[in-house]
Amino acid sequence: MTLSFYEHTFADTPTLGGGATPTGTYSNLDHVWQAAEPFMRTRMNDVHLPMTVMYAEFILDTEPDADPEVTRVAALMHDVGWSRVDGDKILTEGFRSDNFLTSDIRVEHEKHGCDIAREILPGCGYDDAFITSITDIIDGHDTRKQHHSLEDAIMRDSDRLWRFHPTGLGFSAEWFGQTPQWVLGDLTGRVMGEMITPTGRAMAEAELNSSMRILRLDIL
Ligand SMILES: [Fe+2]
Ligand SMILES: [Fe+2]
Repeated sequence: MTLSFYEHTFADTPTLGGGATPTGTYSNLDHVWQAAEPFMRTRMNDVHLPMTVMYAEFILDTEPDADPEVTRVAALMHDVGWSRVDGDKILTEGFRSDNFLTSDIRVEHEKHGCDIAREILPGCGYDDAFITSITDIIDGHDTRKQHHSLEDAIMRDSDRLWRFHPTGLGFSAEWFGQTPQWVLGDLTGRVMGEMITPTGRAMAEAELNSSMRILRLDIL
């Protein structure tokens, strides 16, 4: 089963769900992963953030004008701020409230994420200008309507892409307290329309066509 209005599949679009790997040569970020690891257990970010970085690399493969280091470090760090918010409110206010995308807890996780970036990135060898370019992306990544740079656009697409994959689709259903079918409606009715880059959009279509087949969303 595929949705006829989503034309892209794994046959024409290299992406994570299809077993592809990014083709560009990217710097080793092991030291950043290690520095950020203590902030990654909350809200499954030790699954969400690695997947976000890989999606970012697929988009970077086709966006030569973007700064890959800024994009990848921003993707790696963007949600670490969840580790410092009131854990009891993550689901009730961050996912299951009417204004979940602009809720106070969403703003808080963005601000804390910027603080953590300022705390750990100097020790990873980055200068103030680089760190500001990271916090400019983290700040408002959920609550700001518009992107303000190509790197910001790629990070936002990468953040959304995991929701089209069965892993992120499943976590979304759990966190929103809804069914996979409800998440499918949210993806087709809202999230797909927010994709910015051509590669991000194509990967979202290919991932969703696959997820619909895997998760039997024609019936379930
Ligand atoms: Fe976020
Ligand atoms: Fe995220």
